[in-house]
Amino acid sequence: EEALTGYFPAIHAHFVPRPDDIFLASFPKSGTTWLKALSFATLNRAAHRPSDADHPLRRRNPHDCVRFLGASGADEAKDEPAAVLRSPRVLATHLPYSLLPERIREGEGSRIVYICRNPKDVLVSGWLFTKKTSAMFGLDVQSYTLQEVFDLFCEGRCINGPHWQHALEYWEESLRRPGKVLFLMYEEMLREPASSLRKLAEFMGCAFSEEEEDGGLVDAIVELCSLGELKSMDVIKNGSNHLGVKNETYFRKGVIGDWSNHLTPEMAEKLDKIVGDALQGSGLDLSSPTVSN
Ligand code: A3P
Repeated sequence: EEALTGYFPAIHAHFVPRPDDIFLASFPKSGTTWLKALSFATLNRAAHRPSDADHPLRRRNPHDCVRFLGASGADEAKDEPAAVLRSPRVLATHLPYSLLPERIREGEGSRIVYICRNPKDVLVSGWLFTKKTSAMFGLDVQSYTLQEVFDLFCEGRCINGPHWQHALEYWEESLRRPGKVLFLMYEEMLREPASSLRKLAEFMGCAFSEEEEDGGLVDAIVELCSLGELKSMDVIKNGSNHLGVKNETYFRKGVIGDWSNHLTPEMAEKLDKIVGDALQGSGLDLSSPTVSN
């Protein structure tokens, strides 16, 4: 914890949670962008109807609608941007649960939504994303091989630590405090987007009313936040974020099992075994893409 506290001193030292905060937590490449879009559209549906031509999600990358906790880095200590957001705030984080500031973990009010995805798809998605962004900055990507990334991933040597450990911490917390931590599976959300969105809205304290259901609002939000719809927007096709990363990089295929186009069966078997062993007895099964909870 010491190392991370040093890395994110501003969050640990300065972030003041509010009782109605909602945190979106994920291991990178697990569907963070999608969860940001869904939660933003749901929480702000009174001000912005999904059909609005100038809906913020038609003008901005979901990452600019929901910020990462500590996104402003060094300046955060001086000027915590989250402090100026209106309640209820939605903030995202890739931090493991055990490394969240105690004030969030212990907070009576803070609610956390975790999105989890099959580690093989996470690994492949991350490898392709890093290759693309590295190429954008003129870095050598030839030497960034899948084999090397795979070996490091299997050893848990990647940003935010071992994927399965990250998932397990949030999973266990969701069992311990179901009203405070909602554990969602990316694969289940793809299969059942409307019911997943209802679950998310209910958890966030803004369940859809009968009238909204009858008016087709759930399907409209699902559609607005779908990969195809977001990908087709000008801001995604042509825009970049503050780091110079093209917005389109955050949207690729968004399917279950694309890992099989990149990993060998031996690689898959090795990773499945590592993950299966680590999660044994936890009730969380990430070895196959047909997980549900
Ligand atoms: P793939 O690379 O497998 O296509 P994150 O948002 O955590 O960075 O995760 C990125 C992954 O989520 C990418 O997966 C991306 O295509 C997918 N994704 C992005 N937006 C999505 C959406 N609206 N619906 C479903 N998947 C989405």
